[in-house]
Amino acid sequence: MPTLNINGTDTALDVPDDMPILWALRDVAGLTGTKFGCGVALCGACTVHLDGQPIRSCVTPVSAAAGKKIVTIEAVGQDSVGAKVQDAWRQIDVVQCGYCQSGQIMAATALLRATPKPSDADIDNAMAGNICRCGTYGRIRAAIKIAAAK
Ligand code: FES
Ligand code: FES
Repeated sequence: MPTLNINGTDTALDVPDDMPILWALRDVAGLTGTKFGCGVALCGACTVHLDGQPIRSCVTPVSAAAGKKIVTIEAVGQDSVGAKVQDAWRQIDVVQCGYCQSGQIMAATALLRATPKPSDADIDNAMAGNICRCGTYGRIRAAIKIAAAK
């Protein structure tokens, strides 16, 4: 039975080693903030952090998280950068339907941790894999800049 460190807590989950992390988080651990979109690493809705790096949890097996720390949208606000990102998202009401936004916030937080003052090109590169069917891209970009300025 794998033990995953999820949001700072070691959690033993009765799942096979090859189960995608997304399934383990949503269906077994009950953390439904991370979303299922495409299931094939194309949309970014399932983005979580693994040792601080943004990963597509729909195609990453539980075995890849052994000895590493998973952080999901439920806990990203406990991190100072994550909290700034969430504040900026609220400040300008980025969200429309909301479905993609967990992944967007996780990707934006990872970007700002690695690159505190990102250029437009940095933002484009970091966020290119996160699709928003509602087209909130303009507000996402603006919110990342607000968070970077905080
Ligand atoms: S659900 Fe994982 S990238 Fe789309
Ligand atoms: S806010 Fe609806 S998919 Fe992005």
